[in-house]
Amino acid sequence: MDFKGKDIISIPDISKQEIDHVLAIAAKMKKKPNPSLLKDKVLASLFYEPSTRTRLSFETAAERLGMRVIGFAEAGVSSSGKKGESLHDSIKNIGLYADVIAMRHPAEGSARLASEATDKPILNGGDGANQHPTQTLLDLFTIKETQKKLSGLDIAIVGDLKFGRTTHSLAQALAYYNPRLYFVAPEALQMPDHILKFLKKNKVKFSQHEKIENVINKVDILYMTRIQKERFPDPLEYERVKNVYVLTEDMLEGVKPNMKVMHPLPRVDEIEPSVDKTKHAYYFQQAENGLYVRQGLLGLVLGKLK
Ligand code: CP
Repeated sequence: MDFKGKDIISIPDISKQEIDHVLAIAAKMKKKPNPSLLKDKVLASLFYEPSTRTRLSFETAAERLGMRVIGFAEAGVSSSGKKGESLHDSIKNIGLYADVIAMRHPAEGSARLASEATDKPILNGGDGANQHPTQTLLDLFTIKETQKKLSGLDIAIVGDLKFGRTTHSLAQALAYYNPRLYFVAPEALQMPDHILKFLKKNKVKFSQHEKIENVINKVDILYMTRIQKERFPDPLEYERVKNVYVLTEDMLEGVKPNMKVMHPLPRVDEIEPSVDKTKHAYYFQQAENGLYVRQGLLGLVLGKLK
């Protein structure tokens, strides 16, 4: 399958066959590293918003494939965006230096805009509250790793579904795999209408809930997310919902033996640290898988893997 030059911007742009192929390539990367696959290629890592996992796993993935990395982690301080340069002009220039661009930006649609400014592949590491497709690919890889399949699973997605870009991308990607989805959120943070419409159009079974306790014993995956303070226009609204979900060890009594707790991270208070030592916790392994999925993506979009 030829991914050479492909942008990874939004899940609906990627077919089921393409997703399955990325996951197969990532599994190969996990089993057998290839330290000189992308020797002499350059990754531009452009982060206009804070990140730990996405940025560092992209950069580590690149370096473990022999690439060199340029870029910035604090665009507001160290890039010419601070002087008023448009994103379009920045990307057009950076595309002349780098072979591939991984980026995160607070504006929805920024990755699409970037893809129009350069012919180098754009890997979207999160655009505002919109999409986080590379996170979704590592989430699917992790679900498959833990459940030995992707099809026909019961999956709860919990927390900030309104602003949570990881939840939007994940729900849309799962639509390919005949899931039963449970969306658990306070009413004010439920899944946006455009995602629900997408799921209905694709005949996905889903229901909406306010309490984790109502769904936890039914599911194969409990996908927790952080209530994202930085996305709330009204700080009082954040204060009202910030601690609404806290997963504790005792809540895991009675769950399916195969149930895994996932979280894109960072967590704040929504998973108590005592959960970490249970057989259900899988969020740190999930973060590690980001490395293999992003190695696979870099190899694919640069045309070195087929
Ligand atoms: N999962 C994720 O996007 O984490 P970071 O914000 O640390 O990159």
